[in-house]
Amino acid sequence: MKQLRYDDYGGIDKMYLAEVATPEPAADQILVDIRAAGINPVDWKVRNAQMKLADGHQWPRRMGLEFAGVVNRVGSAVTNFKSGDEVFGAISLKELGAMADAVVVTADQIHPKPPSLSMSEAAGLPLIGATAHLAMRETIDVRGRKVLINGGSGGVGNTAIQLARMDGAHVTAVAGPHHQDILREMGATTTYDYTTTDVTQLGENWDVILDTAGTLPWSEAKHLLTPHGTYLDLQPGLTSYLGSYINNKLSDKKRQPLMADITHTTLHRLYDLVEHDGLRVHIGREYALMDYKKTFSELEAGDGPVGKAVFIP
Ligand SMILES: NC(=O)c1ccc[n+]([C@@H]2O[C@H](COP(=O)([O-])OP(=O)(O)OC[C@H]3O[C@@H](n4cnc5c(N)ncnc54)[C@H](OP(=O)(O)O)[C@@H]3O)[C@@H](O)[C@H]2O)c1
Repeated sequence: MKQLRYDDYGGIDKMYLAEVATPEPAADQILVDIRAAGINPVDWKVRNAQMKLADGHQWPRRMGLEFAGVVNRVGSAVTNFKSGDEVFGAISLKELGAMADAVVVTADQIHPKPPSLSMSEAAGLPLIGATAHLAMRETIDVRGRKVLINGGSGGVGNTAIQLARMDGAHVTAVAGPHHQDILREMGATTTYDYTTTDVTQLGENWDVILDTAGTLPWSEAKHLLTPHGTYLDLQPGLTSYLGSYINNKLSDKKRQPLMADITHTTLHRLYDLVEHDGLRVHIGREYALMDYKKTFSELEAGDGPVGKAVFIP
C-alpha cells in the first residue's frame, strides 16, 4: 500500500510516497481503509521541525493525523467495530499515518462516521472541530458575547464561527477579499477584509479574540479586549505559556494558549454536533495523494482553497 512519509526534517523535497506492506492488526487493533485524509498546517509544521517537543521523533515519519474510511478487518479482541463499518478518526502526533491507503488504529481512535457527512467532510473534521470546540466551548463561555475571529475562512475559523453563533455570540470574522461570502454563510454577523480593514484601528473591543491566522499577536490583541476579555492563542510556544501565566496573575485581560487533543470523547461530541446541531464542514478541495508535492507547495504558500483541504488516496 502507499504511505506518505519522510526520513528527516525539512522541506517538501523530503517527502516521498513509499510502497509498504499493509499492516496486520494486532488483537486490539483495527485496519481501516482510508477514503480521505485531512490536511492541516500541523502536517508541515511537524515536517519543518517546528513541533519537536510534541512529535515523538520516530523515523521514518508518517504523515496525516485525521481520516475517514471503512473498517477492513479487526483484531480478535475488538468487539465494537466490524468489517465494513464507516468510521472517522484521529491518530496522535507521535504516530500519524493517515495519508496512506490504510492505517492500523485502536478502537478509541475511531468513531462511527456521522452519516450526514461525506468521507471527505468527516476526514476534515477532527482537528478543526476539536480546536474550535476547545476554544469556543471548553475554554470560555461565549454565550451572548462579542467574539472576534481573525482568520474565519480557514478550517478552525469556519467551525469556530458556527459554534459561537450556535451559542448566540455576536461574531466578527476577518478573512481575505475572496473569502467574505463563506464568513457570512457560516454565520458571522460582521465581516472584514484584512486587505482593506485593519481591525486594530476600528476603535472596537471584543470579549473574546481567537487568532487562527497568527497575524494578531497578544501585544496588539490585548488593546482590543474588553476589560475582562480573553485572547485565545492557537500558536502556543514556551514564551506564550510563560507570558500568559505571568499576565493572567496580574491582569483581568486573560491570555489563554490552546493545544487541542482529539480523544474518543471529542469524536463523539463532533458526531453529535453534526447530527443534532447541524455543524457543517466546508471542503475547499480534494487533492489526489499522488499529487502531494504540488498540494503541499500550494497549501504551504497560502494558496489553498477556502475551508478544508483533504487527500484522496
Ligand atoms: N493549537 C492548536 O491546538 C491548533 C489546532 C489546529 C490548528 N492550529 C493552528 O491554527 C492555525 C489555523 O489553522 P486552520 O486549519 O484554520 O488554517 P487555514 O485553514 O490555513 O486558515 C488560515 C486563516 O487565516 C486567514 N488569514 C491569512 N492571512 C490573514 C491576515 N493577514 N489577517 C487575517 N486573517 C488572515 C485566512 O484567510 P484567507 O484564506 O481568506 O486569506 C484563513 O481564514 C494554523 O496555524 C494551525 O497550525 C492550532
